[in-house]
Amino acid sequence: MIHRMFVGRFSLSATVLVMLAIFAGSGRVFAAPPSTAEVDEGKRLFNQNCVFCHQPDAIGKVGFAPSLSNKELLSISSDKFLLGTIRDGRQGTGMPPFGHLGKPGIVAIVAYLRSLSDVPNRSAQVDAMPAAKGNAGSGKVLFDQICSTCHGVKGDGYMAGGTGTAIGNKSFLNRVSDGFLRVTIKEGRSNTRMLSFSGPEGIANLSDQEIDDVIVYLRQQAKQ
Ligand code: HEC
Ligand code: HEC
Repeated sequence: MIHRMFVGRFSLSATVLVMLAIFAGSGRVFAAPPSTAEVDEGKRLFNQNCVFCHQPDAIGKVGFAPSLSNKELLSISSDKFLLGTIRDGRQGTGMPPFGHLGKPGIVAIVAYLRSLSDVPNRSAQVDAMPAAKGNAGSGKVLFDQICSTCHGVKGDGYMAGGTGTAIGNKSFLNRVSDGFLRVTIKEGRSNTRMLSFSGPEGIANLSDQEIDDVIVYLRQQAKQ
């Protein structure tokens, strides 16, 4: 999707056109990597607007701003999620809106963030996962016992002094699928305090049903 936008914005050299024709022939035109110029521009904008909170190379800062170079995050984030989060920010958290950078600027930033991880984008599969079904009451017990330590008792995250983000926040939940939440809880995010909650290596070995219960609880409490 991003690459479709790039094509409209640059005058393409003959070489690039030939390459595009080859990609198009194999049906993979949008899988072509963004141009170096786009990534450089994204890096410049990142260093101007985001680095204070998200830190150099987007590694994040505990209790302040999440890592944006994290491979699990990038692998499950659709362009729509990233573009929308950057444009509108996350209301009620420390993440401000950046709509004033304009779509091309935000697209360039996303290209830069994607360049920080070589893990394939699996957001389409993740977002196509079925909706969570479960018991909000059981989910609340698990949330209070395990998740609230880092994410705050109401899921307010850093605002409540937690080390994790505001996972109970509407403007976050409205942008993510149950698949995004499920995979994050199962796999965690490497090199952050968000560890896996599944399997013997996890902080807690939650079953698939327990994970769904937590998701159902998060969605329910956000409506109240
Ligand atoms: C030891 C602290 C800790 C615990 C316990 C914890 N998390 Fe996290 N979680 C984090 C951190 C830290 C992040 C953000 C990663 C970063 O800083 O880059 C995160 C991120 C997340 C995200 C992604 C949010 C976003 O903004 O994209 C979800 C969803 C999530 N956690 C769910 C849970 C759930 C559900 C539980 C309980 C089963 C839980 N977490 C328990 C620390 C924790
Ligand atoms: C004033 C500090 C601040 C600035 C500046 C800032 N952010 Fe953030 N950002 C945050 C915080 C805090 C969060 C987590 C909000 C929460 O608790 O859910 C966040 C979350 C995000 C997320 C969601 C990550 C996830 O794990 O779900 C993205 C994407 C993001 N920011 C991109 C950017 C980009 C790109 C810029 C620059 C254009 C930027 N941010 C500038 C503080 C900031």
